[in-house]
Amino acid sequence: MTDYGVRHVAIIMDGNGRWAKRRGWPRLAGHRKGAEQIKKIVREAPDLGIRYMTIYAFSTENWKRSLIEVLGLMKMFRFMIRREADALATEGVNLRFIGDRSRLDPALRETMDAIEARTKTNTRLTLAVAINYGGRDELRRAAAQLALDCAEGRIAAEDIDDEALAARLDTVGMPDPDLVIRTSGETRISNFLSWQAAYAEYEFTETLWPDFTVEELTDILARFSGRERRFGGVQP
Ligand code: IPE
Ligand code: IPE
Ligand code: MG
Repeated sequence: MTDYGVRHVAIIMDGNGRWAKRRGWPRLAGHRKGAEQIKKIVREAPDLGIRYMTIYAFSTENWKRSLIEVLGLMKMFRFMIRREADALATEGVNLRFIGDRSRLDPALRETMDAIEARTKTNTRLTLAVAINYGGRDELRRAAAQLALDCAEGRIAAEDIDDEALAARLDTVGMPDPDLVIRTSGETRISNFLSWQAAYAEYEFTETLWPDFTVEELTDILARFSGRERRFGGVQP
């Protein structure tokens, strides 16, 4: 096992649609191939020193897509979670979800709750899947929770520090990501982990997500380990 010093990697899995389009296939075929890639990466991640992984599966903006694509994705999420539940449980993966689930179909929510409960004591890898997730939406919900906690006397306004806010984010209990990877050549963040990735390193690759391999991940991690992170300080 090689440890590259990346405890938490976050991935914006982009390019499924273009991957399918190049083959003349429907976009959902790209999403299906993309979902298969996740399995390979998740299986190898612990051996690369990764303990936490957050993957962007559906953003708060992705509802703008066609009904066929949105419903197809939601159906696929439920199918994949159910199909992979046993493997994830035995591989020691703690699966959790971030994002606002109140807008999701009750059947999907039930599946999500069940796998979270089933794998919550697993420690080999924590995998957070972002579904109906937006960094701004998450901060808005945390702010609303803080306001409520203030109004009901659980916290005083002057005691609101970084920790108090982070404790109300969906990622509570997870360390901040060290590295954010985006595939498909787009060099934007698209509302991903606004608070948590404030000091992350970023890597952008032209590879479309369905073509992304463990080998490329390893190359990226090796490059990361050569970077100097200063967190606002000066070079020693
Ligand atoms: C990312 O791939 C997956 C989701 C947003 C669900 P895209 O579907 O955005 O693929 P492109 O960007 O259109 O190629
Ligand atoms: C970001 O990809 C969201 C996910 C990967 C789930 P998008 O394809 O939705 O982002 P934009 O529209 O290119 O910014
Ligand atoms: Mg995209």
